[in-house]
Amino acid sequence: MTSALMQNYGKPELEFDHGKGSFLYAVNGDRYLDFAMGIAVNSLGHCHPALVDAITKQANTLWHTSNLYRIAGSEELAARLVEHSFADRVFFCNSGTEAIECGFKMIRRYFYNKGEPQRNRIIAMSGAFHGRSLAAIAAAGNPVHCEGFLLADSGFDQAEFGNIKSLEQQIGENTAAVILEPIQGEGGITVVEESYLRAIKDLCDKHGLLLMLDEVQCGVGRTGSLYAHQQLGVNPDVLASAKGLGGGFPIGACLATEELASALSVGTHGSTFGGNPLAMSVGNAVMEIVSNEDFLNNVIDSGNYFKEELEKLINTHSDLLKSVSGTGLMIGLVCEIDSATLIAKLQEQKLLVVKAGGNSLRLLPALNVSREEIDLALSILKKVLASW
Ligand SMILES: Cc1ncc(COP(=O)(O)O)c(C=O)c1O
Repeated sequence: MTSALMQNYGKPELEFDHGKGSFLYAVNGDRYLDFAMGIAVNSLGHCHPALVDAITKQANTLWHTSNLYRIAGSEELAARLVEHSFADRVFFCNSGTEAIECGFKMIRRYFYNKGEPQRNRIIAMSGAFHGRSLAAIAAAGNPVHCEGFLLADSGFDQAEFGNIKSLEQQIGENTAAVILEPIQGEGGITVVEESYLRAIKDLCDKHGLLLMLDEVQCGVGRTGSLYAHQQLGVNPDVLASAKGLGGGFPIGACLATEELASALSVGTHGSTFGGNPLAMSVGNAVMEIVSNEDFLNNVIDSGNYFKEELEKLINTHSDLLKSVSGTGLMIGLVCEIDSATLIAKLQEQKLLVVKAGGNSLRLLPALNVSREEIDLALSILKKVLASW
C-alpha cells in the first residue's frame, strides 16, 4: 500500500505493535531492547503500570475541557514542578517546540512590558537543537533545518558552543536572552561544564540578559536530577521541558520565575490542548515516580555502571569507538566507524539506539532500566563490534 503520509520521515519499515518495560515487539513478533525510548520520551519504559492506570482512570472520567475551565490536574502538576525546581509558574503545552516557543515569547514580552521592545534578540549556541518551529530552527541555526524556511533576520544570533568569548561578542544592545541545552542532545551528547554555565550566567547578569535552558531532552530525571542544571549550580529564568514528562503522552511545559512569567498576562498566550486532564493524569503519575530521590539516585548509579562498562568496551575496541559522554542515562558514544552503520547493525541484533551529531550515537534507556537490560545492551554491542 502506498502511504499518504508526507515524506519528511522517509519510509521507515520497522513497525511495533506493543511494548513492555524496556522492550518493544515488532509486528512479526521479534523482540527489541529499546535504548532509544522514543528519543528520551518513554521515561519509565513502555506501558508502565502506574501510567496505564492513571490514563485509564482519567480516560473513563474526563478527557478534555479547555483552559476556559479550571483543571485540577494541571494545577497539581504545576505545583509539583514548582516544588522541585527554580520555577514559580508553569505553562503547559504539547511538545518541546511549543515549550521553547512559549519561553521566547515570554522573554520578548517581558522586555516589551519593561519599555525595552528593542531588546528582542536571543542568542543560541552552535550545535543546538530546539525543535522545528520557525523560531526554533532560527534559534539553533542548523542550515539543514533552516534551508528555504526563514526570512533574512528571524531575531536570533549564534555563539560558538563552549566558547565564552564568542558569546560575549554576540551580545549587543538588542540582546534579550541566551538559550542553551545543559546537555546537547541532537548535536551529540555534549555536557555543559559547570564553569562554562557559570560564566554564561555571569555574562547574563552583567548585561541584564535572561537565561533560558532547554531541558526538553535532558530533563525529567534523565541525568539523575529532576533537571540537569540542578547539578551545575546555576538556575535559569525560564526552562523548556517536554519528552519524558509525559512518559509517551505529548506534554510540554515552560517553567519560569514569577518575574518573567508575569509577562504572560491574561490573553497573551495559550494552547487548546495544553494541560488537558488526560495529559495531566499521566504527567502527575510520571512526576510522582521521577521526583523521588531514591529513583533519581538509581538513575545516576545505572548511568555510572553503563558508562564504566562502555569505557571498557572502548579500551578493547579503540579502533572502532572513540569516547563516551553524558550524565546519568543520557549517554553518547562517539564512533571511529560510521555511527549510522553501527546503529543499523545494532538494530539487526535487536538493540535500538539513536543517531546524534558528531558521528555518535545516543543511548537513552528507560530511567528504570535494570542492570540485566544494560548488560544485554552491552552484550549486543560487544557482539556487533567483535564481528566488525
Ligand atoms: C533539546 C530539544 N529541544 C527541543 C526539542 C523539540 O521537541 P519536540 O520535538 O517535542 O517539539 C527537542 C526534540 O528532540 C530537543 O531534543
